[in-house]
Amino acid sequence: MDIQFRHVNYTYQPHTPYAYQALHDINFTVSTGGELIAIVGHTGSGKSTLLQHINGLLLPTEGAVMVGDYLLSKDNKRQDLKKLRGKVGIVFQYPEHQLFEETVERDISFGPHNFHVPNQEITSRVLTSIEKVGISESLLEKSPFELSGGQMRRVAIAGVLAMEPEVLILDEPLLD
Ligand SMILES: Nc1ncnc2c1ncn2[C@@H]1O[C@H](COP(=O)(O)OP(=O)(O)OP(=O)(O)O)[C@@H](O)[C@H]1O
Ligand SMILES: [Mg+2]
Repeated sequence: MDIQFRHVNYTYQPHTPYAYQALHDINFTVSTGGELIAIVGHTGSGKSTLLQHINGLLLPTEGAVMVGDYLLSKDNKRQDLKKLRGKVGIVFQYPEHQLFEETVERDISFGPHNFHVPNQEITSRVLTSIEKVGISESLLEKSPFELSGGQMRRVAIAGVLAMEPEVLILDEPLLD
C-alpha cells in the first residue's frame, strides 16, 4: 500500500486569530510492505500532525494524501474513513490515553469488535497481540487503569495490533 503526500499544508484553527500552519508543502511517497520508516524532527516540527493525516484523523487544509486507494483532501466526509482506520493503526504519543474499557481484554477487543470480527477470531487475536507486547494472560480481566504505565502502553499497542492493520504508525510510544 503506497502512502503519498502531495503539496500538503495543514493549519490548526484556520480563519481564527489562533491559526497556526503546522505543515508546509509536504511531498513524499513511501511504498509500504515490511519496511520500517522513521520520521525525525525537533519538537513542534509537525511529526504528530503529519502522522494523523495518514488515517484521516486530520485532513489536509490544502493538497492531498493518498493511502492505497484512498484520496484524502479537505472535501472528504469523515464517515468515509472507517475502513481506512482498519488498515492504518496509530499508537499515539501517550497511548495509555487511548484506554477506556472496563477490562484489558475488552479494551484490546474493542477495535476488532467494532469491525464485526467474529468472537472466536477476536479471542485468538487478543492472545496473539498480548504475547507480542509481553502482557500476561492473567492481566486480561483487570481494569486497564490498575496497570502500571508501561503495562498500559503495552495494552494500548496490543489493541492496535489486534486490528491487524496493514500500516502501523507509532508516534513515539516509548516502552520503558
Ligand atoms: N491542536 C492544536 N492546535 C493548535 N496548534 C497545534 C495543535 N497541535 C499541535 N499544534 C502546533 O503544531 C505544531 C506541530 O505540532 P506536532 O504535535 O505535530 O509536533 P511534533 O513534531 O509531533 O512535536 P513533538 O516532538 O513534541 O511530539 C506545534 O507548533 C504545535 O504547537
Ligand atoms: Mg509529536
